[in-house]
Amino acid sequence: MTQSSFSNLAIILAAGEGTRMKSAKPKVLHEIAGLSMLGHVLAAVKNADISHIVVIIGPNHEEVASEINRHAPQAEIIVQRERLGTAHAVLQARAALEQNPKSVVVLFGDTPLVHPQTIKNLLECVSNQNAVAALGFFADNPTGYGRLLMSGNKLEAIREHKDASDKELEVKFCNAGLMALSGKHALELLSNIGNNNTQKEYYLPDAVEVACSKGLSCVALKADNKEVLGVNDRVQLAQAEAVCQSRLREQHMRNGVTLEAPETVFFSYDTYIARDVTIEPHVVFKSGVRVEAGSVIKAFSHIDGATLEKSVTIGPFARLRPGTKLGENSKIGNFVEIKASNICKNAKISHLSYIGDADIGDNANIGAGTITCNYDGFNKFRTVIGEDAFVGSNTALVAPVEIGAGAYIGSGSTITENVPDDALGLARARQVVKLGWGDSFRNINSGTKD
Ligand code: UD1
Ligand code: CA
Repeated sequence: MTQSSFSNLAIILAAGEGTRMKSAKPKVLHEIAGLSMLGHVLAAVKNADISHIVVIIGPNHEEVASEINRHAPQAEIIVQRERLGTAHAVLQARAALEQNPKSVVVLFGDTPLVHPQTIKNLLECVSNQNAVAALGFFADNPTGYGRLLMSGNKLEAIREHKDASDKELEVKFCNAGLMALSGKHALELLSNIGNNNTQKEYYLPDAVEVACSKGLSCVALKADNKEVLGVNDRVQLAQAEAVCQSRLREQHMRNGVTLEAPETVFFSYDTYIARDVTIEPHVVFKSGVRVEAGSVIKAFSHIDGATLEKSVTIGPFARLRPGTKLGENSKIGNFVEIKASNICKNAKISHLSYIGDADIGDNANIGAGTITCNYDGFNKFRTVIGEDAFVGSNTALVAPVEIGAGAYIGSGSTITENVPDDALGLARARQVVKLGWGDSFRNINSGTKD
């Protein structure tokens, strides 16, 4: 026995083309809540405490390989050159199967919503007396699925839809596709699967009949339909997204987050939100967002790669882009876009601004319509605003530029030079007033109008 003899092995099948996605991208890289389907499966496997992972991918799927390296660098990647069926795919991991794993679980890269606990339960079933444990569910429409043929508590066979008799087609208990095999028997069972069927494929589910013919016992566990949803096209992708979002909403609410209209809030798989945060309707979180306690996110805000410290208020209609850090108690109002900027504590940007590549000090007040001009078409430049500074409305800050602590900027200024601490920076034409001009203008023009 080798060193890995006592560990469990996960084999993830991801060699499919996914033709029905009608996409240039391999199917398993399509995302759910901001994470690829394959990323979801890898996370579930890791959370089921399985460290030995083999992923079977298709030829020319370099992007799939790099996604695997990103999420599970320890996983072994094997290319299945010809797609001869699910059992053939599993046998590509022969070398790992030969290392006497305790139990083996097979998962599909396009079935992303499986819970770690379900994987553990399947493994548990084959850790002692059973040779195979399949995962079943009751499909609303069983067309296309393999059927689990039971005799009492024992699973006797799995019949693919295309090979099933009329009587077998009446069975509603369907094969989800995920399966555990005892490590002791896995190789032997897999090697005995033939391809004598309608599709001339080596079917993994046939492991059940092979096991039964050898007097070994097989069982089926029942899963919730939603958990085993397989994604073959974009309609099913949207269904999986909906299931995942409703799980995330529930998780956040259970953690102490108030969602005023949960069904209108969309999270990323990695969104972190502390307790006592309130989220109004229609808010979207993209990846890499952290929100600390007591913050309020008002309606229609879009938040991507941003950190909000305690008691921050944003929105309605705020857009936070990657690299935004909002300090404690800061306030970002309506129609404000912020990118790659540090907004320190108690600072306010209340209306209609674009702030990019900026550092804004404690207590600074940025007036309505202030814009950082951070980009010249080639390079990005920073704007630095000191603490307690007050920038008047409709100011253009042409970066690189620094506004000192406690400085004031007159409204409507276009600031191109640094303004020292406590100074007033004014950069606009002096106003001209011509008394009586309106009257004479009208006199000159009267008569030209019908
Ligand atoms: C499979 C099951 C069926 C079950 C259904 C659930 C088989 C033979 N049938 O059918 O009982 O009801 O899933 O959705 O297993 N794959 C490879 N290499 C291959 C073949 C498949 O990697 O050579 C991968 C696919 O990319 C996919 C998974 O295995 O992720 C399942 O294959 P697919 O062809 O979709 O099987 P189904 O016909 O859906
Ligand atoms: Ca499928």
